[in-house]
Amino acid sequence: GAVGGVVLAVPTEQLLTSALGPSWTVTPFARDLPVPQVLRPHAVGPDADHYRLTVAEGTAEIVPGVRTRVLTYNGQFPGPTIMARQGRAARVTVENTLGVQTSVHLHGGNVAQDSDGHPLDAIDPGRSRTYHYPNSQRPGTLWYHDHAHHLEAEHVYRGLSGLYLIDEGWPSLRLPSGAHDVPLLFRDADLTGDGELRWELFGQGGRTMVLVNGVAQPRLKVRRRRYRLRLVNGANERPFRFRLSNGAQFTQLGSDGGLLGRPVQRSEITLWAAERADVVVDFAPYAEGTQIVLENADGEADSATRVLRFDVVGHPERDDSVIPETLAAVPAPRTPTVTRKVLLSFDPLAGFLINGKAYDPQRIDFTVKRGTTELWEITNLDTLLQVPHSLHLHLVQFRVLDRDGVRAPEWEAYPKDTVAVPPGSTVRILVTFDSRHTGIYPFHCHFLDHSSLAMMAQLRIVA
Ligand code: C2O
Ligand code: CU
Repeated sequence: GAVGGVVLAVPTEQLLTSALGPSWTVTPFARDLPVPQVLRPHAVGPDADHYRLTVAEGTAEIVPGVRTRVLTYNGQFPGPTIMARQGRAARVTVENTLGVQTSVHLHGGNVAQDSDGHPLDAIDPGRSRTYHYPNSQRPGTLWYHDHAHHLEAEHVYRGLSGLYLIDEGWPSLRLPSGAHDVPLLFRDADLTGDGELRWELFGQGGRTMVLVNGVAQPRLKVRRRRYRLRLVNGANERPFRFRLSNGAQFTQLGSDGGLLGRPVQRSEITLWAAERADVVVDFAPYAEGTQIVLENADGEADSATRVLRFDVVGHPERDDSVIPETLAAVPAPRTPTVTRKVLLSFDPLAGFLINGKAYDPQRIDFTVKRGTTELWEITNLDTLLQVPHSLHLHLVQFRVLDRDGVRAPEWEAYPKDTVAVPPGSTVRILVTFDSRHTGIYPFHCHFLDHSSLAMMAQLRIVA
């Protein structure tokens, strides 16, 4: 496509996975990073802010000059960001203008069953419904996405996801904020030669273009100061291993469900699908004109490796932000009263299974007593085909104890809602069902192609 006479993107024969046909080559770092619009409440009630999301078909400019048909919330790809404040409830009315069902799940949210976006509690075509999010949990980087039964993989791939940030609202924490707090939603995509999203289950081999907030290889101009970056893996399947091209460190502040106990220095951050990392990068030491690339060390093509470039501009800036030595209280681990085994497997005939079973919405897999602490031993049995899996629990945040007997790193300790379970490994997590809500909640593999094919189970929480 041509923009202002300059050719920025051309369809090319895909050299890597050539069997899959033409893909696109984009001139790297020619476009500014779009930051998803913050959704304004359409009404501010006495006890909640009211938001509207319309699920609709639309188009997006994933590569410059090319309109790609996508699914959107409010016409946006990815959807708008909802900025909630701790202690202040939100009501989100979702209208479904698609010809198929949709369901919105607030990933990481501590919400009542009827607002959880359970796969079978969906919004029919032409209908709408209102989800209630109390925001009484810890502040954190959450995201919302489609969860319609068997359709979530395609719907999320086509665009149905967005960020949901719960603000600290603590005057004592002076983390970088406003324009210096930048959400980065990563996912991969496979575009056909005519600029359409190519969708197929297990098509991840062709999804060699990584999008940041919906565009391929953008750049972000940064001032000489600290920035807070919310790294969110919104891909269906792809894990990311992030690092900075100059070897600089990330200061990690938070993981899936909110802040860690204290900041941790990391030179590399691995995020599997649905995992998040809240980090700070300090650009103060660099001269104007310095370019630092955020790389995905596991990318197979340039378009999946050099995912975003930071261009340092301006003079050193006054920076009032503070990264304190302690961030948030981490609840002390409690002694579990129940131990469970969760076996993840793939069977060429029976499909993707949890404890040997495919998802059956009529079946309750585990009954859990509210308030109790459980130890889950999660094993990925797929050593032969080396199928990776993860496990995501709705409603609660948990602590990862260890992986194959090796103590989990600090950033996985708490608060986590999704955990990587590589082939052959056993991961132990400690979950306290500390939500006030009871009812039926799913847990599943967050490789969405797997969950769409029934790699899902559910628990019932009783009082
Ligand atoms: Cu992010 Cu049940 O999913
Ligand atoms: Cu899986």
